Amino acid sequence: MAERETWATRVGFILAAIGSAVGLGNIWRFPFQTSANGGAAFLVVYLLAVLLIGIPVLLAEFVIGRRANTSAIGAFRKLGRPGWWFVGAVGVIAAFWTLSYYSVIGGWVIRYIGGSITGGALAAPESYFGAISVGLPSVGTHAIFMLITIGIVALGIEDGIELATKVMVPAVVVMLVGLAAFAATLPGASEGYAFFLNPNLDTIIANAGTVLPAAFGQAFFSLSVGFSVMITYASYLGKNDSLPVDGVTIGISNTIIGVLAGLVVLPLLFAQGVEPGSGGPGAVFVAIPTALAELPGGGLVGQAVGVVFFGVILIAALSSAISLLEVVVAYLVDNYGFSRLPTAAGIGAAIFLLGIPSAWETAWLDWFDGIGVTLLLPITVLFVVLFVGWILGQDAIDELTDGSGIGSLAPIWLWGIRTFILAVVVIVVAINLWDLLAT
Ligand code: PHE
Ligand code: NA
Repeated sequence: MAERETWATRVGFILAAIGSAVGLGNIWRFPFQTSANGGAAFLVVYLLAVLLIGIPVLLAEFVIGRRANTSAIGAFRKLGRPGWWFVGAVGVIAAFWTLSYYSVIGGWVIRYIGGSITGGALAAPESYFGAISVGLPSVGTHAIFMLITIGIVALGIEDGIELATKVMVPAVVVMLVGLAAFAATLPGASEGYAFFLNPNLDTIIANAGTVLPAAFGQAFFSLSVGFSVMITYASYLGKNDSLPVDGVTIGISNTIIGVLAGLVVLPLLFAQGVEPGSGGPGAVFVAIPTALAELPGGGLVGQAVGVVFFGVILIAALSSAISLLEVVVAYLVDNYGFSRLPTAAGIGAAIFLLGIPSAWETAWLDWFDGIGVTLLLPITVLFVVLFVGWILGQDAIDELTDGSGIGSLAPIWLWGIRTFILAVVVIVVAINLWDLLAT
């Protein structure tokens, strides 16, 4: 059998992981989750969730992946009691499931780049979105997005994912900084910042039952944990990298880019007097073009900003989509020795088919997102935490500290995983299950 692939460089791995983390979650989901859950109040809980729970869980997935040196399902088998393979399987299913609708939204983004160039998306935002987000047009752009994703994954780890994300992640950062600087010049931008940056603790307390699970769901989704993605990416890692340093770098970069996206979206909306609205898949696609159309300087400024804005989203979405497809492909390549290209194409086609209902009708997309983020995701996280905390135990500490000099913090991390983090994740799962069963 051919030797297993690895990342060419440590930076390559970090950028690929940041590329996975930064995506529609930061630019599309985060600003609207924030505005639907009390603005800055949500931001505070989200930041705590990332720091206290998200990053430690990210490290847990890194530990599993690098220690096993094989993709998710095999990793649990190799490290644990054989019965634990199902945790990886749920993660792989979650990745398959999520990509099916993620790609639909990615397709809309492609469409909106075109719509910004022609001006059609800005002229009548509501009816434009209504026309392109359902039925055959939406299925068509979904297909295009999947084809690009398949193409990159088919090229492999080093020549595909690593090379692509090395270009994509810096491009996203540069373009977002430019857009944020532009948004800052708009009159009225300060209202957007105020909404984003002034926490109101009463809001959190009054709405704890919805704000907490929403913030945790967003934190996990955003860090790409619970989908076996980070397990898979870490499995291509060498023993010399410092997992804690890499994990903290990835978690903090993802958060900074998320906040940066908020600093673009919210001032833009507030400056133009457009309400952020209550969220939902259409929000960014209707509100942003509405705001763009009203920019000073005539339609061309709005169109140009629109191309850059949707360009950033497309790049960010693609670098996440390839990580979701890679999870499934890696499993088949590792376990059955299939070759990459036909595997990526076949799995990509199956994911395309599963996404057709979401492309056809946005109610389906909401349903797929709901099941993925509130059910599959927290349940996988729960089992990852149990596995690393209570099955790997000391081995997890050894793996975490291998290649790094921060050994003394590792026992605190493991202790957190075993107790506090486990408890929080159990509560999140319980609330979500309760909500799901009650509706
Ligand atoms: N983290 C990505 C985002 O924020 C979504 C994602 C989740 C990607 C899980 C891969 C795995 O858009
Ligand atoms: Na993200």
